[in-house]
Order: sequence, then C-alpha cells, then structure tokens
Amino acid sequence: MTVSPHFAFQKGVLHAENMPLPELAERFGTPLYVYSKKALHDAWGAYQQAAENRNVLVCFGMKANSNLAVLNEFRKLGAGFDIVSGGELARALAVGADPSKIVFSGVGKQVWEMQAALKAGVKCFNVESEPELERLAQVAHDMGVVAPVSLRVNPDVDAKTHPYISTGLKENKFGIDIEQAPAVYQRAATWPSLEIVGVDCHIGSQITEVSPYLDALDKLLVLIARLADAGIHIRHLDLGGGIGIRYTDETPLTPKMLLDEVFPRLQAQGLGHLQIVLEPGRSLVGNAGILLTRVEYLKHTEARNFAIVDAAMNDLIRPTLYDAWHSVEPVVQASSAPVQSYDIVGPICESGDWLAKNRQLSLAPGDLLAIMSAGAYAFTMASQYNTRPRAAEIMVDDQAFKVVRPRETLQSLFADECTLD
Ligand code: LLP
Repeated sequence: MTVSPHFAFQKGVLHAENMPLPELAERFGTPLYVYSKKALHDAWGAYQQAAENRNVLVCFGMKANSNLAVLNEFRKLGAGFDIVSGGELARALAVGADPSKIVFSGVGKQVWEMQAALKAGVKCFNVESEPELERLAQVAHDMGVVAPVSLRVNPDVDAKTHPYISTGLKENKFGIDIEQAPAVYQRAATWPSLEIVGVDCHIGSQITEVSPYLDALDKLLVLIARLADAGIHIRHLDLGGGIGIRYTDETPLTPKMLLDEVFPRLQAQGLGHLQIVLEPGRSLVGNAGILLTRVEYLKHTEARNFAIVDAAMNDLIRPTLYDAWHSVEPVVQASSAPVQSYDIVGPICESGDWLAKNRQLSLAPGDLLAIMSAGAYAFTMASQYNTRPRAAEIMVDDQAFKVVRPRETLQSLFADECTLD
C-alpha cells in the first residue's frame, strides 16, 4: 500500500524512500522527524514545470521548514526565499542563498532586521503598513541606500480555509486595505530612499481551490492599472503562498492550474512583462516529512482508548492548534491486536496534547507510528515545553540518510540559565 510516493510500505514495513523507518527509530530514537529528499525535489519540480518558460520566481516560504538541509536543496534547485525575520534571513544566507531572490514579508519588521536585509541586498520588502513604510524609508536613508518595496495589499477575499490561517480578509492584521493602497503607493513614491518594485498579497494557507487566487488577482490587476495611471509602474506581482496539500482526501489546486490561469489574465491586461513571484511553503515540504513516534502505553478508560506516544504537541502543534488532521500509519503492518478506536496523545500535561482522535488502529505498546504530512509547520513550530528536547531531523536520500539536526540534549535546554545565587 502506498501512503505517499515517498513514504510507502515495502513488505509490510513503512519506508522513507528506500530506508526502513524502524532502522532509523532504533538508531536515533523517537520522536524523530524524517524527510525525503526526493519529495522535496518532486514538489519543486511541480512548480518548475508549471513555470515553464514564463517569468516566475518561486521563493520558498521557509517558515514551513527552515532546516538548513532543506533550504540548501531548494537553493541548489534555484529557489528564492520568502523570509519573515532577521533569523530567517540569517538561515538563508547561511546556505548561500542569492539575496536578489529573497523577499522579506511580515507585519512587524524591526530596525535591525531592515538593516540586515538592506545590507544583504534583498529583492524586495513586502511592506504591510504606512508606519512600516516610513520606518523603512528612514532606515534606508540613514544607510544611504534605496530600499526596494512592494506593498502587501489585503484584497479582502475569502481563502476558504481555517480562520487561523486565512489572511486576506479585512479583519486580518495583514496587509494594507486595497482601497487605501493607491494613496500609500503615492506616498511611497515621494521618498527618494524607496523604490517601488511590486505589488504583493498572500491570502491564506492550505488553500485547495484556484478561485480565491483569481478573485485576488482580479482586484490586484485593477490596482496595478490605477497605479500605472498615476505613473507608478511595477516589475513584479507577488501572489504569496498558500497552495494546499493532501492531508487526507483533499485534491488541492496545483501550481500549474494556478499559473495557467494567471498568465492569460496578465496578457489580457497588457501586463505580460510582469514577473510573477510565488511564496509557497507547505506545498514544497508538507508531504516530504513524517514524525516518527513510539507507543509508550495503551490506556483504556470508560470513555475512550488512548495510545500514549512519545511525541507530543510540542513536536506537532497543528492538531490541537488548528484541529488539523494528520494521517497516522503503523510503521509495521503485522499487529495481531484488535482494531480499536484510539486517541493518539502525548505525555504533556495538557488536555490539548493530542495528535489524532478516533483512529481505527491495531496497537501494542512499543509499536512505531508515523504521523504523516509533518514536513511543514512541524519542527518549525516545535517548542521545548515540559523541558522536552526538540527531536532530531533526518534527511533520507534513497537508502542513505543524514542527521540534519541532532536531538537536543537535556543539558543544552538549560545550559544558559542561571540562578540568583
Ligand atoms: N507568504 C506569507 C506572507 C505567509 O504568511 C505564508 C504563511 C506563506 C507565504 C507560506 O504559506 P504556505 O504556502 O505554507 O501556505 N502554521 C500554519 C500555517 C501558517 C501560515 C503562515 N503564513 C499551519 O500549520 O497550517
């Protein structure tokens, strides 16, 4: 049975590519994040094919997975990066990313972060408010440089996704109201330390349909025309990230479906020269990783059956934070235990510490489980809550593998702390 092309059963044992997962669990312990290099390359390939010979820059939304090994694969493939902090800038530069392919998003850029990005020479600042624009103009002026800017506009469209990951509605904190955007662009044009280079939006995440993008695009095209009338000519249009992945039975839009709709619309408006920038995160890495965990105890209560595993909400917070559904696969398909409905829960002292609910599984203590689709927003959202070291990350390449981040040691968790006496 195939769970995903890159995590599939061979003789009843789940593999990452051609590496049996039990071997990795034995060697490195659990919980453990396991990534497939080929899955990263294939996901990238879908964007590359969709782009064909069109003018598209794909900037990996690295908040989804910022391990240096992941970043470096995408860099080698030609990706740019979408960053949201000075920390992410430092990671991108650490793998030798080309700064002219880095876009800097985020609502709360600090002075030091602007300075670092200007020094590096990033492609564009996606500015989200007038105060930010003013600050950027001042910082660039003080450094004697010109900052390339796009305004992130809020097109007020419904991305039809979870409210916590929907960002393009009026009530969200993100972006500049599209009605106000022309006036803010006009102001930006008056600052000699700013150069207007683009228009940007990002309407949400785990989007499965193409229509919200096209609703946003239609509004952005009207804005771009208004800007042109005012003598403001942009070079690129950034449509953000957001393409969803299959966690269960979704059939999300593909990059090709999106770009095949976008380019004819640009051409129809005489905007065929514009570069399209995309900022995909999840769709490049989500199904390229799993979280491997071991059953510690089975606990049967009157109300429910619990499988208490060694991974927890600190390793994967998506289920409890967004009510997200991650598939759970027994790594070895040999159990003779009866199939029962289990809640998969962790050891953390919170009722919200669950990874999956009501799953029909045949389990015994010591069994290994794979929590699927854990390549995006898993490790990057991990914490050390309950003084739990963050788990190791392994990258598999066919039958080979590399520890791309070792498990944190207990000592390292509090090595920098001190007492008052
Ligand atoms: N660009 C911007 C400006 C963003 O805010 C995001 C994600 C992306 C690109 C990448 O979006 P993606 O292609 O990954 O959907 N933690 C949540 C997702 C939060 C997304 C935040 N912004 C989750 O686990 O579902």
